[in-house]
Amino acid sequence: MRCLLHTTAASLLASPALGLVARANLPPKFTVEPIGIQSSNFPDVYRDGGGGGTINGLNIMTFSDTTTTTGGINGSMKGFTDNTIAYVGQNGASLYQTTDFGSNGVPTMPIPFTQNETQYTTSHFPTDGTRCVLWPQSSIATLPTPSGPDLGIAIYPIALYNSTSNTQTDLYTTLVEITADPATGPNVHRVVPRLFYAAESPLYGAFAAILAHESSHLYLFSKEWHAPTLSGGIRLARAPISSYKNRSTYTYWTGTAWTPDLAAASTAPAGLLFEASLSTGDVFWSDYYNTYMAVYFNNFADSTFYMRYALEGTVTGAWSEEVVLAGTVPGGGLQGYNYAGHAYPTFGVDGRELVLSYTVAGGALTGMLRVVFE
Ligand SMILES: *[C@@H]1O[C@H](CO)[C@@H](O)[C@H](O)[C@H]1NC(C)=O
Ligand SMILES: *[C@@H]1O[C@H](CO)[C@@H](O)[C@H](O)[C@H]1NC(C)=O
Ligand SMILES: *[C@@H]1O[C@H](CO)[C@@H](O)[C@H](O)[C@H]1NC(C)=O
Ligand SMILES: *[C@@H]1O[C@H](CO)[C@@H](O)[C@H](O)[C@H]1NC(C)=O
Repeated sequence: MRCLLHTTAASLLASPALGLVARANLPPKFTVEPIGIQSSNFPDVYRDGGGGGTINGLNIMTFSDTTTTTGGINGSMKGFTDNTIAYVGQNGASLYQTTDFGSNGVPTMPIPFTQNETQYTTSHFPTDGTRCVLWPQSSIATLPTPSGPDLGIAIYPIALYNSTSNTQTDLYTTLVEITADPATGPNVHRVVPRLFYAAESPLYGAFAAILAHESSHLYLFSKEWHAPTLSGGIRLARAPISSYKNRSTYTYWTGTAWTPDLAAASTAPAGLLFEASLSTGDVFWSDYYNTYMAVYFNNFADSTFYMRYALEGTVTGAWSEEVVLAGTVPGGGLQGYNYAGHAYPTFGVDGRELVLSYTVAGGALTGMLRVVFE
């Protein structure tokens, strides 16, 4: 792998606000090193996407369209799966090693379609090339339970993808619960088949979902981008952990308050936590810096990871300017850029490490990096 860039961010950042007690000094200083290109226990698995988290100490990644071939990247197709899920670095293996689950060497699709989603693809794909897709590019929020296994929660978008025009129309999100068994693999259930509709609001949770720091809420981050004005950013919804399956208990950040008024909050200019161009990424709490961080790829296909951090340790407070975290070099394939950048704050050996992944080689391979904070 050829991608290796590192930088210090000092020159680009505003100073942290007074009152923030950080364990390590902001702005972050760091180096970046390659981990490698992913390799599955199943041979000849090619896919894009990313996003994930850690359940019961098992590091998990989700992927989008996954092709298994009879041999090599140009081999004939043996299996095709809309979404897949894998353990990463299981049992002390390197972090580029994934453990897939399936049969006949083809990973199983973990997140099911509903009957009418399947029906849509069956009736449309052969005639107009459009299929219903569930591409799980978002983080997993992990709920520890006092006695017993962790429960993962994630929100994934469902869209219609027209393969002729290569365009995607978002429909709605689904909320899933995930359990993880080391031997049989992760198990995913769509406990809320449809949570938010694209027609009513940005898709809260489809960018990232996390447990709030020292609060009994689930945070659901959305992203938006208005190409004509080159503007956009992140919005936030929250739900009590005790009732995340009940949308009536969700509230939305307006810039000054949490309101149950979805429509008002979703269009309030001040409701953007920060303004930025984001395609994929993650928001998470950093124990090492004692604040929230956001890591993302933008919409300009520049194959670069960017980072921001909350200046006051609060998700709704001020955020830093954008900092370049790591550049990656596009490798081979039809596309001259990498995409699907994601961060995994729980994959490293401690809070000083931040593992990153991105899709390379035109959608076939997954590259991984490790950021080490000083
Ligand atoms: C796969 O096919 C592409 C397009 O023909 C070619 O550029 C690439 O070198 C091939 N890769 C391998 C590993 O054969
Ligand atoms: C499936 O049915 C639900 C409920 O009627 C509807 O909201 C949704 O849009 C349908 N999905 C597709 C892909 O047609
Ligand atoms: C898919 O895109 C093609 C090319 O733009 C268009 O002709 C077709 O109507 C689209 N199909 C659907 C179902 O929207
Ligand atoms: C969902 O939350 C609303 C608002 O608190 C409440 O009135 C309703 O009973 C809840 N529904 C369920 C199924 O718990």
